[in-house]
Amino acid sequence: MKLQYKLAPSLLAADFSCLGNEISRIENEGADYVHIDVMDGLFVPNISIGLPVIRSVRKCTDMFFDVHLMIQEPMRYIENFAEAGADGITIHAEACADIDATIDRIIKMGCKPAISLSPDTDIDVVIPYLDRVNMVLLMSVYPGYGGQKFIERILDKAVALRKYINDNGLDVDIEMDGGIKLANAKRVVEAGVNVLVAGTGVFKGDFKENMEGFKKIFEENS
Ligand code: DX5
Ligand code: ZN
Repeated sequence: MKLQYKLAPSLLAADFSCLGNEISRIENEGADYVHIDVMDGLFVPNISIGLPVIRSVRKCTDMFFDVHLMIQEPMRYIENFAEAGADGITIHAEACADIDATIDRIIKMGCKPAISLSPDTDIDVVIPYLDRVNMVLLMSVYPGYGGQKFIERILDKAVALRKYINDNGLDVDIEMDGGIKLANAKRVVEAGVNVLVAGTGVFKGDFKENMEGFKKIFEENS
């Protein structure tokens, strides 16, 4: 199956004093998703943005909001994030007591469900849910902070997961998040990842050049 490549700039690396402008910038340069990192200071040792911010930036764009919930027991807040404007909701397998019920809730709220795996979680964990989720997010850093170093061994997880998806005739996106830059994006794509999250890789340095660089890598692999 032909993969549809998508670039999901992470707002975590944007300038929070003018988020509306930052979103327009990525939209004008052809971003596909807006990746929004929600952290609770419990599942991860950091606190980022939450519901009121999502609600207010929802007014700036119709772009797909790819909401990455790094929170303990996300079941408690699925309705709230859906109502705030999430299009896709990603939960962490490690943070959920009942993954099935949480996926059900996301679907019921009209959002696209995805499951994320932290670097040390095996892909076996996600296999039972592959017929129910739109996407699997493989973390290529330990969740909690932007600007960390890419963990190379996660590429093997992507290769194995893409093989399983293909062998079983499934249609599931693989997203990778953490430390992705122009310098390693080609290898990420070659490993079978089709949704690339990049925070500092987009916003640090020459923004326009970064955006164009990612798009070029997608074109070369299409
Ligand atoms: C980390 C977040 C990432 C982060 C990526 O926990 O999930 O989305 O913003 O930032 P970079 O691309 O700078 O590693
Ligand atoms: Zn993220």
